[in-house]
Amino acid sequence: MSTLYRVDSSIQGGRSVTREITDELERAWSAAAPGGFVSRRDLVTTPLGPSVWAAALAAREAETPTPGQQPAVDLATTLASEMLSADLIVIGAPLYNWGPSGHVKCWIDLLWTDPRFAPRTYPLTGKPVVLVVSRGGGASAGAPKDGWDHSVPYLEQTFGHEVFGGDVTVIETELTLADRSPAMVHLRELAAELRAQSRELAKETGAALAKYVA
Ligand SMILES: Cc1cc2nc3c(=O)[nH]c(=O)nc-3n(C[C@H](O)[C@H](O)[C@H](O)COP(=O)(O)O)c2cc1C
Repeated sequence: MSTLYRVDSSIQGGRSVTREITDELERAWSAAAPGGFVSRRDLVTTPLGPSVWAAALAAREAETPTPGQQPAVDLATTLASEMLSADLIVIGAPLYNWGPSGHVKCWIDLLWTDPRFAPRTYPLTGKPVVLVVSRGGGASAGAPKDGWDHSVPYLEQTFGHEVFGGDVTVIETELTLADRSPAMVHLRELAAELRAQSRELAKETGAALAKYVA
């Protein structure tokens, strides 16, 4: 059976845009691939944190993990195995404070500690990885904050051919705060259009990825 592995990291619950777009992709994939299975990892409810990462890293450098380090090693092993056993991976990754969320950064740091994700192992080679990214303002070419999104380039490089080796597709939505910000009232129509376009792209991508069902 083929598995779509879905990773969420928005802290915004029911009003999350990345979760909404990822829902769309998941629905389209499930409809086109009825024999497929969706496995989920919510990084907001997973017990991550810099001290967990530090423990997993220290354990890897030591001969034998201490009892205090073992839970961190076990978590890293589980997270890495989930990635490796999936046929395709979809990651919801919002922009917070101009960078990736701490949850996502910590998750990636933990993956690096697993020997199967060591440098130059390219563990996701041949695997589709969809990055569903979202930001409240505008940071694309020509926008006043052009170049301020330091999350998307980091994620593309990490999951792409240079590091983990996956075949990355990005579904990007911006201006998501237009509905809530009076300063962005003139951008509301454009924001709605961009969101609708992302939902459509998510549907198309989900259906296209159904070929990954054995
Ligand atoms: C704590 C926090 C920090 C944020 N920082 C930024 C930012 O630096 N730049 C930006 O354009 N939007 C920022 N936003 C807006 C989010 O990027 C926007 O709400 C986006 O839709 C997040 O994805 P989500 O809806 O799935 O959580 C921030 C939102 C929160 C809650």
